[in-house]
Order: sequence, then C-alpha cells, then structure tokens
Amino acid sequence: MVTAPGQFGARILDMARRLAQWSELPDGLMCTYFSSAHKAAAAQLREWMGAAGLQAEIDAVGNVVGRYPSAAEAARTLIVGSHYDTVANAGQFDGRLGILAALVVAEHLHRTGRRLPFHLDVVGFSEEEGVRFSAPYLGSAAIAGRFDAGILERCDENGTSLAAVLREGGVDLAAIKMLARRPDTLRGYVELHIEQGPVLLQRGLPVGVVTGIAGSARFRITIHGAAGHAGTVPMSARHDAAAAAAEIVLAVEQRCAAAATLVGTVGQLAVPHGLINVIPGCCEFSLDVRAGDDATRDAAIADILTAIARIAARRGVTADVIELGRHAAVPCAPAMQTALAQAVARAGTEPLHLASGAGHDAAMFAGVTDIGMLFVRCGNGGISHSPLETVTSADADLAARVLLDVLVNLAK
Ligand code: GLV
Ligand code: MN
Ligand code: MN
Repeated sequence: MVTAPGQFGARILDMARRLAQWSELPDGLMCTYFSSAHKAAAAQLREWMGAAGLQAEIDAVGNVVGRYPSAAEAARTLIVGSHYDTVANAGQFDGRLGILAALVVAEHLHRTGRRLPFHLDVVGFSEEEGVRFSAPYLGSAAIAGRFDAGILERCDENGTSLAAVLREGGVDLAAIKMLARRPDTLRGYVELHIEQGPVLLQRGLPVGVVTGIAGSARFRITIHGAAGHAGTVPMSARHDAAAAAAEIVLAVEQRCAAAATLVGTVGQLAVPHGLINVIPGCCEFSLDVRAGDDATRDAAIADILTAIARIAARRGVTADVIELGRHAAVPCAPAMQTALAQAVARAGTEPLHLASGAGHDAAMFAGVTDIGMLFVRCGNGGISHSPLETVTSADADLAARVLLDVLVNLAK
C-alpha cells in the first residue's frame, strides 16, 4: 500500500502514538538510552523501516538506519533523521516526528519507484537528549565521526559506565569508530523536527526553515557546606549547601536574562540524604547554558562561575564545578536553507526563517556536510519536553510533503 501525500500526517501521528507505548513509565513516555523501552522502540523502528522497503539495521550504538539505495552504487548519501530517545515524561514528537516523516517519505519513493541519485539513509538516532550519561548526541556523533571515546567511562546514576552498558548489549567497542561516515561520501543532512517553541504558532505558519542551532554547555555542580541540627544551629552560624545553591540558581536566572538568545537552566537539584530536620550539608545541581552565539554563552558562563565563587566564599561553603561538555553554535547551510524555503513556498506557505534554541542531531553534522532543518509548528503554546506537546496531522502532512519535495529537488 502507498501512503499518498495528504495521508502522511495521519500515518505519522499513528506511528508516533504506537512508538510511545514503549516506555519506562507506566503512565507517561520515557525512553532513555539502552533501557528495555529504548531497545523495543529501536526494534519497532527497524521493523517499520523493513516493511517500508528500506534496508534496515540497528548499529553498534543503537542507531536505527534504513537505507533506500540509489540505482548508482557509488552515489553519495543524504541522511534524513532525528532521535527516538526521550526525556522523562516526554511528548510523542520530539525527535520521533522527524524519523517517522522521513520513513513515510522514503516508503513513498520506494513504492512509487522513484529512484534518487543519492542513497537515502533514514536514521533514528539512539541518544540525543543525553539523559542517561549527560552526553547528548551520542548516536549522531558516532555517524558524524565525532564520537568522543572519553564518554565511554562516564557513568549513569547507578554507577554503570557507558562502556559497560554497551558491552552488556554485546557491542564491540572497536566497532563504534567504524560507524563514522567519510564527509566526501555524504550529500548532506536534513532533519525535520517539532519547533518546541511558540514562534510558528504565533505567526500562524505550519513549518519554518531553521537558520542555525544555539551553542550549549552543561555542568554538574556540588556544594559542600556543613550538616547540622535544624533546631539548634543559629541562622548566623550555618553553612547551608541548599541555601547557597538557591542563591546560585537566582544568579543564573538573573545573568541569563541579560541577552536576547541567552538561557540558563538548573533542571536538577538535590540534597543527597536530605532530611526535614537536618541542615543540608551537600547540594548537587545541574546547569545548562545556551545562546545563539558562543561568545554570548561563554561570557555568561564566566560570570556565573565568578558568582558561584563569590556566593560560596561569603557563605563558607565550597563549590566543585564539573564541565560536562560544550557544543558550538552552528549555522544551517545556505544552500539547504534555500532548498527548504523553495519547497515551503511551493507548498503554498510563507518560508519563515527562525533560529533553534534547542539542540539537534543536525549540529553533529555541521562542518561534516551541509545541514538543513525544517521546523514544524508545535501546538499548546509551543510546549515541548512535556506530555502536553502536540502536532496536528495537517502540519505533519505538510511537513512530510515539503521533505519529499526537497528530496526530489535535491536530486535534480
Ligand atoms: C534537547 O532537546 C536539548 O536541546 O537539550
Ligand atoms: Mn528534546
Ligand atoms: Mn529533539
């Protein structure tokens, strides 16, 4: 059966709903790296890709790769993909919308016998969010040739290293570097993704062309103070680690409000072994800082680190700051932006250009090959990383048709 343009949207939403049934949570979606839900989602994607006529396999780091081969064996490869891992209590479309749209489009090409002058690889990347190992873009980094072997020793919250997880899954660690594609074998990289913000919704547009992806940095910070009795230690004599962390959270909020594209988030904050009647002796928290350009982000980070030192000294606590990683801001290739904008216009829609504050697998391919991204309108005020995330069938359909048009026109 051929899914025709006009029916892409309903099919994509149906598959997203079915894929979301593989979850670590009984009443919400969570699919983190190499969990049983993650492995089941990968197997499901591989099955659908195979049924769609693609040559499908799951690679050493868990990427699901489905190839629609070109008639010319020596042709270059266009990768169209996004990720299938999720945050905790996620929406159904972050990442998955892009894989499923690419899947129905590749199936349509195959069923209608339309060959391309490049191999088309539909990829479901295994780990983009970086939830389990605080190492985002794990799957895309491997294929882009940017896998950092240093993260193999990084541990999840149970103390299990990435290397151990992979070995237990039967992965030969030496095989990871073989996943890297040579830049000269690539025709480009295209990613369709839900916007995860309100711009398209506010402008009344179903899709938009991405100009670039913000630069980001992640840190883990531990404050060591002095535990004590909540009833006996006078307020003036305390070295409360949680109170110091609270002051730092507010300093992050204030500093990151100072520039247009700058954002700073403390998304995790914990008092290990905290009790209601004990002054917190330790407080651990995460820090995520992003901006549209690296200089703005780095200036904010420098100021935040100074504020942390100042707050810690005044409160008589110490702060251990570990930088987990920095990813540069990247532009989308002008040629890809033009190809996408022309396809959006041919679909009868104004081609609005907008920047991405969220990270995407596309960022790993910048500098390796031409990258392009198409954003799809997000409902519910633009909310994402939340079960309230929505996309309409009509928007998913139009986005998939734009993707099909882009592929056909890149082939000319
Ligand atoms: C992924 O969604 C990220 O931007 O952190
Ligand atoms: Mn996400
Ligand atoms: Mn995403």
